[in-house]
Amino acid sequence: MSVRAVSTPNIALIKYWSNRNEELRLPAADSLSMTLDRPTVEVVVEYAERFTARSFEPDGTARILTDKESKRLEKHFLLVKKYLDTIGAAVFPASVSLEIRSKIPKSVGLASSAAVFSVLAEAYGSFAKKLSRRDVSILARLGSGSASRSVFGGFVAMIAGEGETIGASYAEQVAPENHWKLWDIIIVPSHKEKETGSTEGHALARTSPLFEARLREIPNRQKMCIEAIRQKDFEKLQRVAEEDCLDMHAVMASSTPSLQYLSEETHRIIRDVEELRTREHLAVLYTMDAGPTVHLICDESALPSVRAYAHTQKDCTVFEASIGRGSHTL
Ligand code: PMV
Repeated sequence: MSVRAVSTPNIALIKYWSNRNEELRLPAADSLSMTLDRPTVEVVVEYAERFTARSFEPDGTARILTDKESKRLEKHFLLVKKYLDTIGAAVFPASVSLEIRSKIPKSVGLASSAAVFSVLAEAYGSFAKKLSRRDVSILARLGSGSASRSVFGGFVAMIAGEGETIGASYAEQVAPENHWKLWDIIIVPSHKEKETGSTEGHALARTSPLFEARLREIPNRQKMCIEAIRQKDFEKLQRVAEEDCLDMHAVMASSTPSLQYLSEETHRIIRDVEELRTREHLAVLYTMDAGPTVHLICDESALPSVRAYAHTQKDCTVFEASIGRGSHTL
């Protein structure tokens, strides 16, 4: 038996940065994101005698997985089996072979882990007995915390929950993809590989003197962000999303060792965008994850100006996405 599934990345408006349990990727706080409609990652999962994983580039050439990547995929599979056993849902193969086809161009600087682990969760979920969407989001979380949110379309909240059980934290939809047509114009100033991946980064957050204050702020920000989305209040969304993004980067920069993900180019683009939106009264906000890539989230009326601005940037790759439906089987 084999299963095919597809998924996409998401962009966080309230950022997830730190776990209360690293092994199970139980987050320290809630977060919230918008699921993108592209680029896609597709998988084919088949029953197999032993675990194997193969990965392919957008042009179809094989991409050699590092030892670390293969181990992470296998560990995810074992955790998935463990969770399905705990909830009595396991009708599951002893092992599987994976074929991962990513359409995420290397140059785009979009983390592929959210798309990869959500699409795997989707495929694994279909081997099990009647799983809820919440369960699928838990399976995704076991590979990458943010992947949990790509299981749903539209605007999605990650609920940190309490306790140390595997199912304690999950994602839930705040509004579907047709609720508010927003765009993400992605400007990638650097093609350099990240120095510290987010898995290692989460574990450093607590060394920052700003971390406790961030934890105290998040519940209120999460609430404001949900309200802004429900009311389609762009100004409110912009204020809370930018505040939270800059706060996460302040935590990163003040942790030991310091994590500096933003570049000079990132800061220049932020200044330009602030000026552009004041001058043209545009509904546009900026946000950055663990890298120098700037995501410009905007509404349809701001799209032509934001797109034109992005394409005037020298030595940058520009990528466009809108809101997507989340992971699903094919
Ligand atoms: O899912 P992870 O472990 O790759 O963490 C993602 C962390 C950020 O992208 C920086 C923030 C987020 O909420 O997506």
